[in-house]
Amino acid sequence: MQICARAHPNIALIKYWGKSDLATNLPSAGSLSVTLDTFTTETTVEEAASDQLLLNGEPGGGQADRVFRWLDACLTQRPPLHIDTRNNFPTAAGLASSASGFAALAVAVDALLELGMSDAQLSVLARRGSGSAARSIFGGFVRLDLGTDSNSTVAAPLLDAAQWPLEVVIAVTQSGPKETSSGEGMERSRKTSPLYQAWTECVAADLETARAAIEQRDFAALAAVSEASFLAMHAVMISSRPGLLYMKPASLAAIQRVRELRRDGLAAFCTMDAGPQVKVICLPESADDVAAALRELPGVVELHRVGLGRGAHLVPA
Ligand code: DP6
Repeated sequence: MQICARAHPNIALIKYWGKSDLATNLPSAGSLSVTLDTFTTETTVEEAASDQLLLNGEPGGGQADRVFRWLDACLTQRPPLHIDTRNNFPTAAGLASSASGFAALAVAVDALLELGMSDAQLSVLARRGSGSAARSIFGGFVRLDLGTDSNSTVAAPLLDAAQWPLEVVIAVTQSGPKETSSGEGMERSRKTSPLYQAWTECVAADLETARAAIEQRDFAALAAVSEASFLAMHAVMISSRPGLLYMKPASLAAIQRVRELRRDGLAAFCTMDAGPQVKVICLPESADDVAAALRELPGVVELHRVGLGRGAHLVPA
């Protein structure tokens, strides 16, 4: 029997950067995100003679070890699995392929092995594979709160995509895999950044501000707190030793341009993750002008426009 699941990446507005427990991949603070449409991971699983993972048609290498170690840590008993996972967008380039990847896998494995997990349990399972994947179980606006332990640190939906249909313009400033993985970067920050403690302490207040802004559809308030969160995360990255410089000159140029556009009255703000791409969150009426302005910037090599989408789900194999 083959089971296929589909999931979309998500973009954090209030960022996750740092873990308090490596064994259960427990984040040291909460986070909040929007799930995208258009960018898709599709993962097919079936029982097999031995474990095998194909990533975009090629043997998964280091990713395969990571995936099977995760499954062994989370499931008491499982058969060997053949996993075939494909992304229709660049893998490991700061476009959150691990989020959609682990979310799709969690849903597919749960169905194949008939584990009957709830959405919350799927979110915990996905989180143990990749922290951001906990959020891709759900669509629209999603919040992840710290619980008292691993099993209660779980994402939950805030609003469906249709309840506030924002658009996202993604300026790719450099394609190809990122220099330092998120997991490795976070550990470096936790161990060496003098800003790390202050960073984890400020997330709870930012989460509340963002949650209220979303509830009230207050774009300006969401813009202010989201921009502050990504800049603070990059301050932690840069202040790690040695410093993690994910921003490129073209990323900075895009951020400056979007700030100018906002001063001129457009509803748009930037966020960035552990890579050089700039994601611009827009009200739909501002997205055309934002895309046109970014297309003109030297150093922007590719532009994508996506909307908000739904959570991970099964599709016919
Ligand atoms: C910068 O979820 O990739 O995108 O748990 O080690 O797999 P692991 O980390 P990951 O980190 C995402 C970091 C981020 C911010 C975010 O998505 O919240």
